[in-house]
Amino acid sequence: MSQAEKPYVQWQDEQTPRKALWLSESNYAAPTHIVPVDDQTTADQAYRLACEGNSLLWRGDFHNALQLMQAMARRINRAEQRKLSKAAKSAKQLPAENTTPSVFHQQRQAQAQRARTLGRLLLELDAGYISGLRRAPDLSAACEAAFGVLDEPCLMSLRDLQGALGAAQWRQKGVPIAGLDLPIFPHYGVFAPTRHEYVSLMQDAPLPAKHDVAFDIGTGTGLLAIILAKRGVGQVVATDSNPRALTCAEDNFARVGLSEIQLQEADVFPTEQPLANFIVCNPPWLPAKPSSSLELAVYDHKSRMLRGFLQGVCAHLAPQGEVWLILSDLAEHLQLRTREQLLAWFVEAKLEVKYRLDTQPKHGRSQDSTDPLYAARSSEVTSLWCLTPA
Ligand SMILES: C[S@@+](CC[C@H](N)C(=O)[O-])C[C@H]1O[C@@H](n2cnc3c(N)ncnc32)[C@H](O)[C@@H]1O
Repeated sequence: MSQAEKPYVQWQDEQTPRKALWLSESNYAAPTHIVPVDDQTTADQAYRLACEGNSLLWRGDFHNALQLMQAMARRINRAEQRKLSKAAKSAKQLPAENTTPSVFHQQRQAQAQRARTLGRLLLELDAGYISGLRRAPDLSAACEAAFGVLDEPCLMSLRDLQGALGAAQWRQKGVPIAGLDLPIFPHYGVFAPTRHEYVSLMQDAPLPAKHDVAFDIGTGTGLLAIILAKRGVGQVVATDSNPRALTCAEDNFARVGLSEIQLQEADVFPTEQPLANFIVCNPPWLPAKPSSSLELAVYDHKSRMLRGFLQGVCAHLAPQGEVWLILSDLAEHLQLRTREQLLAWFVEAKLEVKYRLDTQPKHGRSQDSTDPLYAARSSEVTSLWCLTPA
């Protein structure tokens, strides 16, 4: 990004004009109303100021800022709970088929509003992500890994900073994967396989008789490509459209000594590759509009990736090739897609179902009856669809 394109924030600090680079992972506009806050500011005051649209520039102790954000989050939770239980009550009075999408959209709106409100608590950092706040830890390594090198002062939300610090921990400790004898190390901004019921499907599905070449489309951390290579597939080509995912997958391949897996930044399919004996894809599962680049792994606007994958896959398959599509039916329970629609897309793409393996997720949210989407989540089934050219 050129100097002219970079977003800067200007504000007055006790009559002194200040300027800093604006860093926002969610692409929020640079703040215009900045109010200084510190250890004397109460959570109620901070919450009210943020709800009124002010950005709060923290000047106190670093740990107190974290506590203030938690206290603001509790206030948001209470307000959300009140709204959601009201929505759920009125939803119960409507026929079931009219209810869930609206609860889903309301929940997403609430999450976006929550992110915006919490994102108004800001920190000023010097070049190299150095914080002058009391008790501030060393933020440089985590921030550089997440956002790149910084050679000038910046303003960023504490929420984004927390995301970077959390990601640094995952990157260091790894995420254990049931059924795989090694952890996977997610990077910031890359889909983290924290619910990984589909791993057992990938391990149980019988490999096609010929399995010299396989593609893993939308590889994320590289998890599925690693499973394929460990199952004995000779040549694995993994793609992703997210450059952070490619760096992350490369890191994971190197950690398990599978550096020969090829990686390509691509919109769905790799180019200049031989035809594949089978092609695996675990696309974003929900057809909805992502609100930031961080959501591109979860939400697939108008099912663009899923449909593009299905439409194009036969052209990349060798004769007798197979497609392994990993998809949960959560979108169906939320009435964002129907089973008939999915089956019609298979037919349009000239694919037929050879077999399907199913599993039920056991992650926390599927068992949390207070979750407004509990009815959908508790009935969710994750499937591996084995498809072949018709
Ligand atoms: C649900 S995640 C799956 C990640 C990984 N395969 C796994 O199973 O853990 C979907 C992945 O698809 C990638 N993706 C989304 N749209 C894409 C596109 N048009 N082309 C390539 N990759 C895409 C996302 O960046 C993300 O890494």
